[in-house]
Amino acid sequence: MLPTQKTISPPSEDKRWKIVDGMMRRHGHEPYALIEVLHTVQETFGFLTDDALRYVATSLRVPYSRVYGVATFYHFFTMKPPGEHTCVVCTGTACYIKGAPVLLNAVQEAAGIKQGETTPDGKLSLLTARCLGSCGLAPAVVFDGQVAGKITTETIKKRVRTYLESETLAEGAHK
Ligand code: FES
Repeated sequence: MLPTQKTISPPSEDKRWKIVDGMMRRHGHEPYALIEVLHTVQETFGFLTDDALRYVATSLRVPYSRVYGVATFYHFFTMKPPGEHTCVVCTGTACYIKGAPVLLNAVQEAAGIKQGETTPDGKLSLLTARCLGSCGLAPAVVFDGQVAGKITTETIKKRVRTYLESETLAEGAHK
């Protein structure tokens, strides 16, 4: 008999974990759902983090080494990007209709990077997600892990400029 699934807390209070939890529940927290669950994490957050891999591993009772192996083996998975700041533009249906492509263009114009890229100075990484579970806020963007809604091109450009002009964390740490 399988052990009863204990309640494991997600890595953070972020509401997007509900989407991931729902997917795991639908599959009865069975290990075979690993790839599908990792897809859901990436579609919801834009990329995979070590915390996310550990959470999925514990929830599905799969060794962390296997989850890490799967996440790094398949090219369609992206581990946390190298940028000091991250901007994840939701391109799910609701956000797409409300202007996500225009927002992506605005970042491209302001920072000179396309989706999946990081600026040469390492300040900003631009990613996309398929639905953040906040469609009422469309178009939605996640700036450094915080979901923000009703984003305009002006807002996103302003935020991007702030990131690009910010002092790097490494410089600050050496003061
Ligand atoms: S489509 Fe963007 S939050 Fe759902």
